[in-house]
Amino acid sequence: MSDFPHWLADDLALSLQDKAANKNDNILDSENGYFVYHLDQLKQHLANLQQQDVVKLWYAVKANPLSHVIKALDGQGFNFDVASVGELQQVLAQDIAPERILNTGPAKSKKQLQYFLEQGVNTFVVESVNQLIWLNECAAKLKVKPTVLLRVQLQWPDGKKNPLGGNSLTPFGLSTAKWQQISLRDYPALDICGLHIFQWGNMLSNEKMYSLWSQMVAPLTELAKQLGMALKILDLGGGLGLDYLTQTNTLSWSQIIRDLAQIKQQAEVTELWLELGRYAVGECGYYVTDIVDKKTNFTEQQLVLAAGINHIIRPAITEQAFPCTLLSDKQQLTPMVDYHMHGPLCTSLDKLGTLPLPTNVAVGDELIFGYCGAYGFSESMPFFLCHNVAAEYVFEQGELTQVRAPQVASEYLR
Ligand SMILES: Cc1ncc(COP(=O)(O)O)c(C=O)c1O
Repeated sequence: MSDFPHWLADDLALSLQDKAANKNDNILDSENGYFVYHLDQLKQHLANLQQQDVVKLWYAVKANPLSHVIKALDGQGFNFDVASVGELQQVLAQDIAPERILNTGPAKSKKQLQYFLEQGVNTFVVESVNQLIWLNECAAKLKVKPTVLLRVQLQWPDGKKNPLGGNSLTPFGLSTAKWQQISLRDYPALDICGLHIFQWGNMLSNEKMYSLWSQMVAPLTELAKQLGMALKILDLGGGLGLDYLTQTNTLSWSQIIRDLAQIKQQAEVTELWLELGRYAVGECGYYVTDIVDKKTNFTEQQLVLAAGINHIIRPAITEQAFPCTLLSDKQQLTPMVDYHMHGPLCTSLDKLGTLPLPTNVAVGDELIFGYCGAYGFSESMPFFLCHNVAAEYVFEQGELTQVRAPQVASEYLR
């Protein structure tokens, strides 16, 4: 039986141990941290998500825009949700047809909408009345008729329990009251036939997820009725969670599909969409860095790592650590102790968590973190203190391939 935790694939761990044994120790261009994505694991997972005919799956590219990851999703029949010109160009560069691209996001300028239409994108989630007016003008000029979903943001009346856990307003979409004021007839160049709602994140309970989805149905179908819209498409965004704390709170995909079949029926839509980020790619990614110092400071056992939130910022934002283990085999023989893991930046925010590791961990040992496939490389703050930007690797059929070399400060500083 393997000594590695359940979230770490054995074949990858062994390959990375080999890599560690042949490490480049040149201070100027060494990797002070790298990401690696297990593509066989990813493809298997995506194929499993596609074993259903209830929901059309899009991939939220913001979760991980690496070309190899996009290609894996393409190969498994996913379509693509992009939220910027950069994401659009990255997806088009992988030879994905523009008809398979959806544009979401609150920051769509008229210039951007026109550019997307010119590139052949014909599906838009519209988040403001301005976006609607601009898209209509651009579509009329270009003589195209894009499919449009209105993004709705719900708030619960004072005193009523808010199932979304808080009533803070965001720039994502508009209230039903605001959308009710528009007239579909004012936008003849658009096929406005869907609604989009997504106001939750990292959900780990099937029951809670279903309860939230089902509470969306009445306000959304009511809005469609008031607008005189034949509601064809309902897009429920993303938000399916990963159990970063490994407490076995995992979602059941087959239950999700059963629940979504009910939602589809209740909303009487012909198409139900999800744009998955974290749930699609989170588990296939790992992050590796090494220990540069170890000390007892007051009451804390501290490890200082070669990289921290400059490569992987999520723990600082959420106060949730990624699961972690030693890459070497020495761990199981000694007792474990909770270590406070700090990165190299001059801010106390730079902490990757407090996690159990064997007492004999040492300077130079490599640590591997799991569930780092989503919101990792591209969500971090790589330039602070001028450390190297993380390298990226893919692992496929036993082969480890570097896709991005570490970028040293002299390459990005001006
Ligand atoms: C519009 C939209 N859809 C989907 C997602 C993906 O969310 P998740 O990673 O929770 O699946 C996001 C993430 O921010 C988003 O903004």
